[in-house]
Amino acid sequence: MGLELKRGHLQTMAKITLSIFIIFPMTSLSLATDTLGVTSSIRYGETLVSSNLTFELGFFTPRNSSTSYLGIWYKFSPNMVVWVANRNNPLADRDGVLTFNGVGNLVVLNRLNGVVWSSELSGVLRNPIAQLLDTGNFVLWDNTVSSSDKTYLWQSFDYPSDTLLAGMKLTLNRKTGFERRLIAWKSMDDPSPGDYVHELNYSQGLPQYEVVQVHVHSKKYRTGQWNGVQFVGCSIAPNSFRVSAFVYTETEISFMFEIQDRQLFSIMKLNYLGVVQLLVVNRSRSATWNAFLELPSDPCDFYGRCGANAICNDSLCECVKGFMPSSLDEWTVHNFSSGCKRTIPLNCSKGDGFWEIENVKLPDQLEVTLYRSMSLEECKDKCLKNCSCTAYATSDVRGQGIGCLMWFGDLIDMRVLEEVNRVQTLYVRQSASKLGIHAYAN
Ligand SMILES: *[C@@H]1O[C@H](CO)[C@@H](O)[C@H](O)[C@H]1NC(C)=O
Repeated sequence: MGLELKRGHLQTMAKITLSIFIIFPMTSLSLATDTLGVTSSIRYGETLVSSNLTFELGFFTPRNSSTSYLGIWYKFSPNMVVWVANRNNPLADRDGVLTFNGVGNLVVLNRLNGVVWSSELSGVLRNPIAQLLDTGNFVLWDNTVSSSDKTYLWQSFDYPSDTLLAGMKLTLNRKTGFERRLIAWKSMDDPSPGDYVHELNYSQGLPQYEVVQVHVHSKKYRTGQWNGVQFVGCSIAPNSFRVSAFVYTETEISFMFEIQDRQLFSIMKLNYLGVVQLLVVNRSRSATWNAFLELPSDPCDFYGRCGANAICNDSLCECVKGFMPSSLDEWTVHNFSSGCKRTIPLNCSKGDGFWEIENVKLPDQLEVTLYRSMSLEECKDKCLKNCSCTAYATSDVRGQGIGCLMWFGDLIDMRVLEEVNRVQTLYVRQSASKLGIHAYAN
């Protein structure tokens, strides 16, 4: 994918070098090609290969570049780099080495023995071992600890680059705040951290994933909220070869997927343009990766395309009932950015009601309150009593539905959904006089 990696014959040398370690071990541990022991190291052209021959770890040089990085890629598809260690600190040339330092940290050193990357463990490891696992996870543990306790002291899965591998969790530890996020490359040929980040937003309401353009503080895409079953509005639903799992507990929020067909490999990548791609390859057929899902996938997926209080439908925008375009001039030329405003102001004291919108991706949670165990009726009453509540919805669709999500202020980033299963209905506050037959006027 845009990388022309120059490794070639040096790989053979690497195997020979590693074989020498096996035949003449310099320490008591036996060294396999997926493992790096305390006295061994890897230079440009030498690699570790996972035992199932799927993943390879070593140095690479991006196309049009003289710098190099330590990374992990698919052995059968070397251009598909899935992890990069020294993203922030490239080697100026190919003169680098991956090794252990005096206290057992993994380090990448440049030609002057300067540290360009480190696993940054605080303790001292007496007998550190690093291994490239079949999952693509590069892990570090201390072999002096009793062998039954192979706790990973460091793992590459904790520091994702732009790629989520099958079996790898995008996770947030709610106790410690530790989070795994995807950070895009700067360009097709530059692994340094780019403009886009794919991360969980859990600050208010329900969890949702977002692609944010960091430097301009703007959202580009968001999944819908977690509704107890799925992220609404994003079709990362289970299908024949892939199962996804979402964990949402007091201590952890995480997302992962697994592949059921052993011939298939699949990854989720945040590319340098800020597009989330689900890529799949059939290893037995070719090394060509196909994007079978991209997010955003259509114009309505672009965050906030319709401005406030409007719904995107088939790439066009419609004001919610009771609202009209803020600027008709702009609206008629399909500039929807300034959104919609109320046709007549709400008059809370005279009694409002709600307009029901079905099959909608619920608005973004800019200002919301969540009541987890409230019924829909209680939710409606609570919203009615608070004059600044603009909309509400059931927060968890499992069973008969439970919970209440209430919005305050403008409603942003709604779209009509194709999916018809388990989507939520949004109840938007209206002045009583505006309500028609679908109304729930009090
Ligand atoms: C759309 O309208 C906004 C003002 O609301 C303006 O800033 C923007 O430039 C317009 N976009 C285009 C493409 O004309």
